[in-house]
Amino acid sequence: MSDPKIDGKAVADEVMANVKRSADLLIAETGITPGLAVIIVGEDPASQVYVASKGKRAKECGFHSVQHTLPAQTSEEDLLDHVCALNDDASIHGILVQLPLPAHIDENRVIQIISPAKDVDGFHLTNVGMLTVGDVSNAFVPCTPAGSMILLRRALGDDLSGRNAVVVGRSNIVGKPMASLLLAANCTVTIAHSRTKDLADVVRGADIVVAAVGRPEMVKGDWIAPGATVIDVGINRIDAPERGEGKTRLVGDVDYNEAAQHAAHITPVPGGVGPMTIALLMANTLTSAYRSAGREPPQF
Ligand code: GUN
Repeated sequence: MSDPKIDGKAVADEVMANVKRSADLLIAETGITPGLAVIIVGEDPASQVYVASKGKRAKECGFHSVQHTLPAQTSEEDLLDHVCALNDDASIHGILVQLPLPAHIDENRVIQIISPAKDVDGFHLTNVGMLTVGDVSNAFVPCTPAGSMILLRRALGDDLSGRNAVVVGRSNIVGKPMASLLLAANCTVTIAHSRTKDLADVVRGADIVVAAVGRPEMVKGDWIAPGATVIDVGINRIDAPERGEGKTRLVGDVDYNEAAQHAAHITPVPGGVGPMTIALLMANTLTSAYRSAGREPPQF
């Protein structure tokens, strides 16, 4: 059987090249440079790594990229003022507030004050609502599910009609928007979660499995129907004593080696969905800049 691995890095590189080309065109024809602002509150090391790589990627696309690093004790009101200033800043087309926020700040209040037109995370209720009613082309779609759909279409072709899709996980960031996208693509969609009965049997009925539960290798190989397509959204760091004392490695929510024996297509971790998430953040920022210029954005 041919290698079922979906190369997310290669597809993400293509998306990034398309974003850069389209950004160059916008700059040349309108003088508008896409601008992305990322706000990080506090010193969480993982968040700092993510935010730094978002800034680096934005610069690679030729964007105006700003990072606002605020101390952990920043008050909710100060953070809201910060976001409002970026809402009013014409040089900024995308605003991302890195989550999680410190416990004294109401995350939802902060997200809902971001202008929906600059909400490149797709977390504002206006964008959630547009996606839920199937207005996929006008909503900002959260980056991980949007990137996962691109990988699915690369593997299976544009028409996903009638396929049985099982999404394992019901988060607002991945599971629910992923289900909305699959439904908009005419799949028959099941959302499974930690309370689902006979989860293995539910997954066995899927042509498409999207795993987004945040539990290392929870989805087993013999849950995967022969010829199914598996999108593994999980990124879990686990101990890897076989690599030496204190070493760790990244694994997904799917047991890759086992599942690859059954699947026709499967994303690895790392190198699958991860690179797509950041590429789609750049794509959403570009889309926002095109809209602000009154131009039809490119499709990804
Ligand atoms: N923290 C982890 N993932 C994300 C994301 O996609 N967006 C934001 N804003 N914060 C995150």
